[in-house]
Amino acid sequence: MRTVFVCQACGHQTPKWQGQCFDCGSRNSLVEEPTRPVGAEGSSQAHGLFVGDSFDAQLYADVDMANTTRLGSGHGEFDRVLGGGIVPGATVLLGGEPGIGKSTLLLQVAGRFATSVGPVLYATGEESAHQVKDRGQRLGVTDAPLYLLAETCLDRILEEVDRIKPSLLIVDSIQTVFSTKLQSAPGSLGQIRQAANLLLFAAKKRNLPTFLIGHVTKDGSLAGPKVLEHVVDTVLYFEGERHHSHRVVRAIKNRFGAVSELGVFEMTDSGLTEVQNPSRVFLSDRAAGVPGSTVFCSIEGARPILVEIQALVTNGVYGSVRRMTSGVEQQRLSLLLAVMEKRAGLTLSGEDVFVNVAGGLAIHEPALDLALVTAVASGFKNRKVHPETVVFGEIGLGGEVRGVSRAGLRIKEAAQLGFKRCVLPDINLIEGPSGCELVGVSNLEEALGALIE
Ligand code: TYD
Ligand code: MG
Repeated sequence: MRTVFVCQACGHQTPKWQGQCFDCGSRNSLVEEPTRPVGAEGSSQAHGLFVGDSFDAQLYADVDMANTTRLGSGHGEFDRVLGGGIVPGATVLLGGEPGIGKSTLLLQVAGRFATSVGPVLYATGEESAHQVKDRGQRLGVTDAPLYLLAETCLDRILEEVDRIKPSLLIVDSIQTVFSTKLQSAPGSLGQIRQAANLLLFAAKKRNLPTFLIGHVTKDGSLAGPKVLEHVVDTVLYFEGERHHSHRVVRAIKNRFGAVSELGVFEMTDSGLTEVQNPSRVFLSDRAAGVPGSTVFCSIEGARPILVEIQALVTNGVYGSVRRMTSGVEQQRLSLLLAVMEKRAGLTLSGEDVFVNVAGGLAIHEPALDLALVTAVASGFKNRKVHPETVVFGEIGLGGEVRGVSRAGLRIKEAAQLGFKRCVLPDINLIEGPSGCELVGVSNLEEALGALIE
């Protein structure tokens, strides 16, 4: 049989073994795997993996609309991340660091779904059925038609699917399942990918919604989830810190809904509970009135969320200044520091700059720029930002403040949480809610003048 060497970090294939992957540079990551495609013994080889009910090409007009009636998971916040509920036949990957709450969340969903919709099969390769039940008792999972299967063999799982005919299948975790039909080692990238393919195929054929749990380490390096992202319909990741009591689940890919949608949960003694007002949670420990702290209104998915941006600026050691960020891209910070130096005359080149998004949320939208710059300038000058002020806006290389999307929504959220003032791009100035003063700014200097006391 022919074999190839597959990088377990990125999936790159080469015919010969090498000490280092050409593609991603990982060392010692190449593992020998057979080249035989999935399902080689069945008919699907000739057709590849088809995910529908017709082998022939169909005219667009003749294709029936998929039945995308969504099923409620029984967990409102989770439904929101999914884009409104569970779509029959969809495969969803839930990734996150070990211990962050993946099994807890899906066991809760399993319990509620079983009660309200129909039988659920929970296949666990990591814990025994006793352990799962033990946790279920704490989560308040009652006598719903929930089947537990402590099994890592994929073929057995699919046999049970055909016997029980569940309305939902949960596989915890995709790293532990293996198929006897495949020859690569359990846990290898080849097994994970092919097992996921077989599950996807089974899900589409039976119109069975399927959740796959996948472990990832902090840098996303552990083999598996990253290469599955393009296979599954929806990818959800647990974000943030396991040391905080609240947890954020973000949809980073969704074939059936908006991406970037966030679900905010709190980990309690009885599992993950919904957080109704995330802004309140993220601002709860705010260091108001301390130089270097400012409040930003971010739009995550469809929802505005207020978060505190913190910056600490201290004298660096000449020649080795540090720039560290958490929740913000480091490159963005470097760029903004350069803009501040050039356009606002702040000499930051000799300073250590640390930036943090409080609460462990990661923010990717450029509307953060103005808040980031404000926090750094406030920390640098050791002067407070005006209290009760929310800020948002993008900054260009010329120091100009650029407009952002959905300003109205952001202003409304700020006003609702009692903020009295909002500094925003000139171009976004609109009629705001009463009680909240809107200050439009067009460049960096003007903005810092309006923001810092
Ligand atoms: P778990 O779902 O086992 O994590 P994962 O499957 O992602 O590895 O969650 C484990 C953590 O959650 C564990 O540290 C304990 C905590 N936890 C609670 O705080 N309350 C609870 O009700 C449960 C079930 C877990
Ligand atoms: Mg687990």
